[in-house]
Order: sequence, then structure tokens, then C-alpha cells
Amino acid sequence: ALRRGNSASSSAHLLRRGFSSESAPERKVAVLGAAGGIGQPLALLMKLNPLVSKLALYDIAGTPGVAADVSHINTRSEVAGYMGEEQLGQALEGCDIVVIPAGVPRKPGMTRDDLFNINAGIVKSLCTAIAKYCPHAIVNMISNPVNSTVPIAAEVFKKAGTYDEKKLFGVTTLDVVRAKTFYAGKAKVPVGGVDVPVVGGHAGITILPLFSQATPKANNLSDEDITALTKRTQDGGTEVVEAKAGKGSATLSMAYAGAVFADACLKGLNGVQDVVECSFVQSSITELPFFASKVRLGKNGVEEVLGLGPLSDYEKQGLESLKPELKSSIEKGIKFVNQS
Ligand code: NAD
Ligand code: LMR
Repeated sequence: ALRRGNSASSSAHLLRRGFSSESAPERKVAVLGAAGGIGQPLALLMKLNPLVSKLALYDIAGTPGVAADVSHINTRSEVAGYMGEEQLGQALEGCDIVVIPAGVPRKPGMTRDDLFNINAGIVKSLCTAIAKYCPHAIVNMISNPVNSTVPIAAEVFKKAGTYDEKKLFGVTTLDVVRAKTFYAGKAKVPVGGVDVPVVGGHAGITILPLFSQATPKANNLSDEDITALTKRTQDGGTEVVEAKAGKGSATLSMAYAGAVFADACLKGLNGVQDVVECSFVQSSITELPFFASKVRLGKNGVEEVLGLGPLSDYEKQGLESLKPELKSSIEKGIKFVNQS
């Protein structure tokens, strides 16, 4: 009997390690801003992720409808909607990952920094609640300007005494998604196998795709092609803002990118090996305190911030040109929390 007991429990253990959908560890994910343009499709994609067992959908309005709708999908997670600040604590309690797409999007003619005045306050108040209700959660920051909202979150957490640099991520996955798509199109290679690291930050020239490290290698691209690909990646957000002509910015591709990044964080938490994604994190690979680069994800969030690797002369120039803007956006975020 003892033997049978042992073998039953060890196969249960193996199943758990294998993370088939029903046996993966319990993981609660919250989306803050869940009724928005990104929030709704992101809620859908997180509901489809078998690694999620509880999905908390929070917004200042509209979440009961989104939650009721998404909750009818016959996948693993239990869905609950939370509306208004008095329900924010409940939404956050017990969270492993909090994804934040709350805040206003750009209209044509605006920079991401033009969103600072409204979004900085939103991010600050949401992060204050995270520090209180789920201080150990991994935070995936989508709200713009990411180059400033991530430092804002770090300062709020530092003030609350909960800051863990391994658990704060600016989501730059959409830059990688775009770089892969544009590169595959230009190089005429199947997009499924393409990888392109994107480093720096998430605004204009601070977005630095490293096409010299793109795989598979393409020998058919000229310097002009690389310049055009770089500019298109840097201006990808603006391309969508202009096409939407006043109705907001990227939402569907962003929801996809956000779901990819949250899935990578979940896999890291669950002990899957070699999960690597680009993200804007606390970093010492340049002189700037935050920088996007490849990051290895693990059980505690960031396991290792990977270096830049060899850069082409064009990329070296791009790196030097982006530093002043990125530095001032980071400082603006830090100053916002310490002055208010
Ligand atoms: P949206 O206006 O459609 O949705 C934003 C949602 O946030 C709304 O539902 C709103 O009610 C909610 N919200 C506002 N204040 C809130 C608060 N205090 N608490 C909770 N929710 C709150 O905008 P969107 O298109 O979903 O974009 C959201 C943000 O994501 C913008 O700042 C945008 O610039 C940014 N964004 C970032 C990336 C990226 O790559 N990181 C990509 C696209 C968009
Ligand atoms: C994007 O890259 O699409 C987002 O940052 C939204 C924007 O304002 O461009």
C-alpha cells in the first residue's frame, strides 16, 4: 500500500512538473485597465492561457460586462470583474502577475511623453495599491510613456519598501513583434522562425532594433534596407496612431504582445528553463538605470539581464543617440514621484 501511495504521489508530482493545463500551479493574473482597447483583447488572450487559474479584470468602469463575457469561455481560469477603487484591493490580492494597460492613448501629432501628465498619476496610484495588496507580484507595465512609467513604479515601490527590481518589467514586446514582422517581410523569410532583439526604451529613437543579430541571417538586405527597417520599427506605434486617425493607438497587436510577455513571465515563475524576452528593466548593462534588453525569466522574475552582444556601427551610433532622451525620460519619472 505504501508503494502504491508513493508511486501515485510521484506521478502526481510529475504531472505537476509537466504543467498540463489542469495541473499547472495556481496563478492569479490581474489586468488593470481591462475594459480598454488593449485590456479587452488582453483579457480574452489571458483567458485562453492554461497557465492562468484566476483572472481578475479591473477598471474604473465597464469591467462587469467584460468579465461576464470572457467568463463564459470554457477554459481553466476563473474570471472576476472589479470596478472602482474600492474593489482594487480585492482584484490585486494574491496576484502573481499584474499587467497594467491603464491610461490614455495617443492621438495623431502626440508623442508618448505627451501622455505623461495623465498617465503618471494613474500609474502611481495603481502601483501604490500593488505595494499594499500584492507586494510580491510581478508587474508588467504597458501604460505609456513606458520610459517614465517604469521608473515611476520603481520609486513608488521603493517608498513603500516593497521594491524588487527583479519583478518590474516595462513591456517592449510589441517592438520585438514589429521588428520580426517587418524583417521577415523585407528579407522574405518565414516569420515564424524569425528572432530580432530590440533594446533601449519604448519611444521613437530610444527603440533600437538589432537587425545585425536577427536570425535567420539575411544576406539580401542593404544598409538602406536596415535603415528603413529600423525607422519603421521605431515609428510602428505612430503608423498605427495615424491609421486609426484619432481613435487611439495599437490595441490588438499590443494585446498579443502583452499576452506573449505575460506567458513568458508565467513560464519563468513555473520553472521552465531558458525563457528569454526583451524587456525594459533595472539594468547595469549601460550607464542608464533602466534599459531594455534580453532578459532571462525565472521563478523570481528577472533571473539575468543579458548583455547587448556585438553591435554594428549603425547600431552603436543609435545606442549613443538614444541615451540622452532615455535618461531624461527616466529622470522625469523619478522626479514625479519624489516631488508629488
Ligand atoms: P484605452 O483608453 O482604450 O483604455 C485604457 C483603459 O484604462 C480605459 O478602459 C480606462 O477606463 C482605464 N483606466 C483609466 N484610468 C484608470 C485607473 N485609474 N485604473 C484602472 N483603469 C483605468 O487605451 P488603450 O489603447 O488600451 O491604451 C492604454 C495604454 O497603453 C496607453 O497609455 C497607451 O499609450 C499604452 N500602450 C502601450 C504600448 C506598449 O507597447 N507598451 C502599446 C500600445 C499602447
Ligand atoms: C505603440 O508602440 O504602439 C504604443 O506605444 C502606443 C503608441 O502610442 O504608439
